[in-house]
Amino acid sequence: MTRIFSGVKPTGHLTLGNYLGAVRRWAEIDQHGADALFCVVDLHALTVEHDPARVHRLSRQAASVLLAAGLDPKLCTVFVQSHVDEHTRLSYLLECTATDGEMRRMIQYKEKAAQERARGGSVRLSLLTYPVLMAADILAYRTEEVPVGDDQTQHVELTRDLAERFNQRYGHTFVVPRATHPPVAARVMDLQSPLSKMGKSHTATGGIVYLLDDADVVRKKIMRAVTDSGQDVEYDRERRPGVANLLDVLAACEGGDPEELAGAYRSYGALKKDTAEAVVELLRPLRERHAELVADPGYVDEVLRAGAERARKLARPVVDRAYRAVGLLPPV
Ligand code: TYM
Repeated sequence: MTRIFSGVKPTGHLTLGNYLGAVRRWAEIDQHGADALFCVVDLHALTVEHDPARVHRLSRQAASVLLAAGLDPKLCTVFVQSHVDEHTRLSYLLECTATDGEMRRMIQYKEKAAQERARGGSVRLSLLTYPVLMAADILAYRTEEVPVGDDQTQHVELTRDLAERFNQRYGHTFVVPRATHPPVAARVMDLQSPLSKMGKSHTATGGIVYLLDDADVVRKKIMRAVTDSGQDVEYDRERRPGVANLLDVLAACEGGDPEELAGAYRSYGALKKDTAEAVVELLRPLRERHAELVADPGYVDEVLRAGAERARKLARPVVDRAYRAVGLLPPV
């Protein structure tokens, strides 16, 4: 069985981008006999200025949204990163494998560090080492595939480099994983500024569809999406990024091809209307199931408890082996 690992960071409410780029596929993978682990990576949420009460709330919410999206805890493991110490234990060994230069080349680090500085804040050291903790998340489970959106490609590449380097220096310890992406909507763009990614931690929320938004709010946001000057509905990500983004979303919802779909539309209005309805329908079951889960917090707790227990069992021997491999004395 293919071992799969992926995670979501509780830094904001989950978005349509998270869903189409990652979470929806996790629920599908889950049904196809893989051995998959899905994680609310809460430690990663501490790498930027954060409100403790909010991280707490969002971590719980992320877990229940994953279950509402169709992850079946009987078929996969759902857990919270900070409940399994092996992630941070392994992260340190990988910090001793990675270089400062590698970290500073990470695009997300450069972007996020610039944002923090622009806000007048300071950059946490953990923001720089974030990709190493992410590599630990993946490597601790001997993961083969990492289903993610486009924006995580560079981090998974780094994970591969670290695994290979570690294996070469200290003997074969880690499986070298690979990223997998959805065929469409691997990068859903913000509806108001279609040149940037739809990101859950962005402060301007008008262009972001949250998974738990009311149907009317979803409709409004999509109907107000920025399109482009011009009339023709054509799929051109460079010249018509707003229209291309709507076509991607519609294609992802309906399972079609964005370029072919473009040919079926004569006006932006009709495209927006169909996209809005497709998204509302896609998210309806998730919203309904989420409301049931909110009413049953004991169930979510039990899923997370059992998930962490299984994750620990899997990660412990891998991380112990890595500790021995680098020459550390086993505890007596
Ligand atoms: P995060 O929390 O930003 O996003 C979770 C997943 O959603 C995908 N995604 C998108 N896909 C398409 N369009 C978008 N606009 C969009 N926004 C987000 C992301 O690619 C991701 O798959 N570093 C990771 C979390 C992480 C992780 C891991 C992932 C930590 N450890 C180990 C995989 C394996 C992150 O910040 O994801």
